[in-house]
Amino acid sequence: MPPDTRGLTFRQDYFDDPAAWSALVALLQDTFGIDVGTQDRFGGPDPTSMPFGYFDENGTCVANFSAFSMPMMIDGRLVKSAGFQSGAVRPEWRGRGLYRDLMNRAFGWCDVQGFELRLLLTDKPALYEPYGFRVLPQHQFSGPSPAEVKPTRPARTLSIGNPDDLALVMRLLRGRTSVSSVFAVASQVEMFLLNSCLDTDIRLAYLDQFEAIVAWKSDGTSFQLLDIAGKSIPSLAAILAALDLCPGRIEVCFPPDRLDWQGTPKPFPSYTSLMIRGEATSRVDVPVMLSPMAEF
Ligand SMILES: CC(C)(COP(=O)(O)OP(=O)(O)OC[C@H]1O[C@@H](n2cnc3c(N)ncnc32)[C@H](O)[C@@H]1OP(=O)(O)O)[C@@H](O)C(=O)NCCC(=O)NCCS
Repeated sequence: MPPDTRGLTFRQDYFDDPAAWSALVALLQDTFGIDVGTQDRFGGPDPTSMPFGYFDENGTCVANFSAFSMPMMIDGRLVKSAGFQSGAVRPEWRGRGLYRDLMNRAFGWCDVQGFELRLLLTDKPALYEPYGFRVLPQHQFSGPSPAEVKPTRPARTLSIGNPDDLALVMRLLRGRTSVSSVFAVASQVEMFLLNSCLDTDIRLAYLDQFEAIVAWKSDGTSFQLLDIAGKSIPSLAAILAALDLCPGRIEVCFPPDRLDWQGTPKPFPSYTSLMIRGEATSRVDVPVMLSPMAEF
């Protein structure tokens, strides 16, 4: 059934119009209570974004669904991947097929672009199952601190609010090596920065001898390693030495194959499911987790 689009204008690839971008920011603020306009501090939204939206005669964005490029490293191979985000329809416009229409447009655009893999995070998996997406269960990896201590120079705490620190983080994100060869984002800058701002518990530390930024959290008893972005990946022992920490319990939120440490995978509790579609999915046959810094 065709969507009921009376009174609405369809727009694609509209981020070069500041009013339209602000209208999307308002839609996402009203729907999810998240201010993605924070990205204006870092130069705006991901330039690879391809938004599909409907606008009313006042310029209000009433529905949107966006695709963006998110190259993934999977089982040692770089996989051309797309993520989908910013999916929302204002309550008074729901049930008219607008979202179905936007999903079809976005998925069709990805077919033309030749993406091998598609990923999304959702609390409504049933919405995407008819389009071939399946839930990929996520696991974090836990275990004790490594026994060995690596002499390492102390890490420096970074603040995204400091322009010099921000420039350093952006440079290292752009030139990063994948945090895991098994399953990780190969390159994507904007979500890491946005997530750093949205969750004030996230701490960023710079390990200069590795030219790497470590994103981590701690609740006092356990240490959560969220991501590492940089030219090389330090071992877990080197990270803990640089942070001068010796936690009783470690939780790593990505496959730890490059950390010189092994943890036990355990199901990661989350209200959202990671869903994937594409041939590359057959190669994801071990426990994995998408770093929370790449969440979108
Ligand atoms: C979910 C949402 C985007 C649906 O928008 P909508 O315009 O009402 O959807 P449509 O009318 O185009 O319906 C599209 C399809 O999704 C189905 N659907 C709608 N809401 C659904 C839900 N909550 N769970 C599962 N399927 C749902 C419809 O039945 C329809 O199926 P069909 O194509 O087989 O007929 C909208 O309710 C919304 O913005 N919710 C809050 C934000 C949100 O959850 N966004 C998605 C996050 S990933």
